[in-house]
Amino acid sequence: MSGSRDPDTVIGLGLIGHGKMGRAVAQLAPQRGFEVRRVFTSQSASRGEGITPENLRDVDVCIDFTTPGAVMDNIRRVAEAGCNLVVGTTGWTDRLEAVRDIVERTSIGMVYAPNFSIGVQLFYRLARAAAAIFRRFPLYEPAIIETHHRFKRDAPSGTALELRRHIAPELGGREVSIASVRAGYVPGTHELVFDSEADTVLLRHAARSRQGFAEGALYAARWVIGKRGLFTFAEVLESGPTPS
Ligand SMILES: NC(=O)c1ccc[n+]([C@@H]2O[C@H](COP(=O)([O-])OP(=O)(O)OC[C@H]3O[C@@H](n4cnc5c(N)ncnc54)[C@H](OP(=O)(O)O)[C@@H]3O)[C@@H](O)[C@H]2O)c1
Repeated sequence: MSGSRDPDTVIGLGLIGHGKMGRAVAQLAPQRGFEVRRVFTSQSASRGEGITPENLRDVDVCIDFTTPGAVMDNIRRVAEAGCNLVVGTTGWTDRLEAVRDIVERTSIGMVYAPNFSIGVQLFYRLARAAAAIFRRFPLYEPAIIETHHRFKRDAPSGTALELRRHIAPELGGREVSIASVRAGYVPGTHELVFDSEADTVLLRHAARSRQGFAEGALYAARWVIGKRGLFTFAEVLESGPTPS
């Protein structure tokens, strides 16, 4: 992994949320030059060991993988402590403008994405190109199908909504329905289907594990140090060095 900071400097990391994703990030962090200095959980908050400037004094950047209900408060607290952050939590982008106000008022840097997999960012580009091709052939109907483990709280997934946002302009306003499946332990699969009476064309991204999400979140965390403003992961990948 590469980024804008000296690769030999250890980066102090604050983890907010220690569920499936928080643990995946914690496991990969030391191999990517980070030291996990604080872990904030719902229990630590209730013990009074919450997100405060004091508790973030040796933290360079935070990564949040929590819940749609908790994330706004976390963003506000981290921003008010003047710490930059990466938000992987999904299900809050209807409050994007409120988050932009917080980021601007506190002059911090924040990166967010419903999906930190680099493969998914490339999948969006392929999907846009496919949608532009199929636009001329209305006998093919577009649809999105997303499948996740049964514990996922939001539906449709943030990634499916983002995928629809990417292809909408190419399809000239055509409706794209999204079907959500919640079953088993699937880390995350997204399919873009163009279906006609005669055949089906399918583009598919399947995450093999959570490591790809953790990798992208750590890449964004290294990148956002010293930055100000609100950035998507796509903007980070366009402006930073190619992840290795
Ligand atoms: N952007 C991406 O690439 C990506 C990839 C995978 C998942 N996600 C999203 O990331 C989020 C987390 O996913 P996950 O699979 O890790 O879920 P998870 O296993 O349910 O973990 C969520 C964790 O957040 C904790 N939490 C809740 N409120 C908190 C608070 N106020 N402070 C600190 N921790 C708190 C929960 O603890 P308690 O159980 O004790 O409340 C739980 O451990 C979801 O929104 C998911 O959709 C994003």
